Amino acid sequence: MKRQLRLGVLASGRGSNLQAIVNACEAGQINAVVAIVISDVAEAYALERGRRYGIEAAFIDSTRHRTRNDFDAAVLDLLRKRDVELVCLAGYMRLLSPSFVEAYKNRIMNIHPALLPAFPGLHVQRKALQYGLKFSGCTVHFVDEGVDTGPIIIQAVVPVLDNDTEEDLSARILAYEHRIYPRAIQLFAEGRLEIRGRRVLCHGTDTPQQQEKQAWGAINP
Ligand code: GAR
Repeated sequence: MKRQLRLGVLASGRGSNLQAIVNACEAGQINAVVAIVISDVAEAYALERGRRYGIEAAFIDSTRHRTRNDFDAAVLDLLRKRDVELVCLAGYMRLLSPSFVEAYKNRIMNIHPALLPAFPGLHVQRKALQYGLKFSGCTVHFVDEGVDTGPIIIQAVVPVLDNDTEEDLSARILAYEHRIYPRAIQLFAEGRLEIRGRRVLCHGTDTPQQQEKQAWGAINP
């Protein structure tokens, strides 16, 4: 078996995306291992999920660090000590400092519950409903210094139904998040992603037919 990519997952909440990543690792769908889960929220359920799988789960207390840089330095230190190669933000509600982004340049991914660049930031499903979208979705992208602005790896399109509440739409999108995030990590693990400017190319899909199959395959594995 090929060497497994070492993942560090940063999460602030319930950690369902973390769960999807762990499941995919365990099922052999991604050739990776979650080396550590880190949270800025002591009671985040993501930490509990990690522990249940025997994964190291660390809470880092932001009130003990004077600045965002200091806090991020503590997170970075831990990630490096655990030899993390790819950082996966999974519902991590802090903006990374430029020095963090630089330290793991092109090796940080995020999942966002909208079709970026539409609706970055918070409460995006509510905004999607207020705007009257017919389709929304989710995006896995590399992280740069901005908020939800980095190069896009995979997107899934999800319909908005007439009677959707914010919770309905969030749940429908979440199911697709759980498909595309592990897929994006696997493409990274296989060394198939190349960032060219704002575009992320996926090697091994040379013809338009292969690319189309790859795009749909990401959401219907
Ligand atoms: C997910 O919907 C994720 O896309 C979103 O937070 C949720 C975390 O859920 N992230 C963002 O909005 C980041 N901009 P989870 O804790 O169950 O994975």
